[in-house]
Amino acid sequence: MTLPATRHTIHIEQLRKTYHATANGDVHYIIKDVDLVIRGGEFFVLLGPSGCGKSTLLNMIAGFISKSGGQLKVDNREIERPGRDRAMIFQQADSSLFPWLTVRENVEFGLRMSNIPKTQRREISERYIQLVGLNAHEGKFPKELSGGMKQRVQLARVLANDSAILLMDEPFGALDAMTRRTMQKELVNIWKETHKTVIFVTHDIQEALLLGERIGIMSVGPSSNITDIYHNTLPYPRNMSSAEFNTLYDRIQAHFEE
Ligand SMILES: Nc1ncnc2c1ncn2[C@@H]1O[C@H](COP(=O)(O)OP(=O)(O)OP(=O)(O)O)[C@@H](O)[C@H]1O
Ligand SMILES: [Mg+2]
Repeated sequence: MTLPATRHTIHIEQLRKTYHATANGDVHYIIKDVDLVIRGGEFFVLLGPSGCGKSTLLNMIAGFISKSGGQLKVDNREIERPGRDRAMIFQQADSSLFPWLTVRENVEFGLRMSNIPKTQRREISERYIQLVGLNAHEGKFPKELSGGMKQRVQLARVLANDSAILLMDEPFGALDAMTRRTMQKELVNIWKETHKTVIFVTHDIQEALLLGERIGIMSVGPSSNITDIYHNTLPYPRNMSSAEFNTLYDRIQAHFEE
């Protein structure tokens, strides 16, 4: 289904996240004054070094943690809690899979909660389990899976639930290089097919350039901000060995070396 581009736009204005130091109560900024609009249907990549606040920002958009100041909206609605319009793929799969459910049951969980009939649930879960390459493992429990496999279950579940906004926190970090390439390609295909709004966090420049229409660079913390935005208009699927790809790569690399 094609959604109008004006829907599921994320508006971020002067957004801040602070915490109080345990020792003396001083206020520290993790994120300070982030201004950003992520258009409905856009593939946006958030790129930055470890510890700069990428997960913090994503968790605020997801509604899992509260902001300390500023505005954070989906369309005209202030984000105050998690919602069905937003789905998160966590950096650590363990924090989101139900250990007492099999792969298939995990993927079908949200569908069951929405009272989707069994045969339809099966159809949907089968499609996405196949897509992430877990068809031989659908009866297994999370503890019987590798880290990369658990990550793929998370992805299948989120896709099955069909939320309009996908928040992805370094989802492919734990995968081997080959699986990672496959998943990156599939994600682009799914995004093109479904017109979802994607915010994808990574610290890998190559991954950022393979996936994103825009790449927001987050500065080193504390008081992190989105300092620059790079546009990548190269057509998909992107060719990593093309001159244009490598020129962009070098520009972003130089940015981090400054
Ligand atoms: N509850 C908290 N209290 C104090 N500091 C915190 C808290 N949560 C996060 N931080 C700090 O905020 C900063 C940003 O953390 P965050 O996990 O968002 O970084 P990140 O960019 O996702 O890093 P990584 O790439 O390693 O996942 C870190 O310096 C972290 O120590
Ligand atoms: Mg993180």
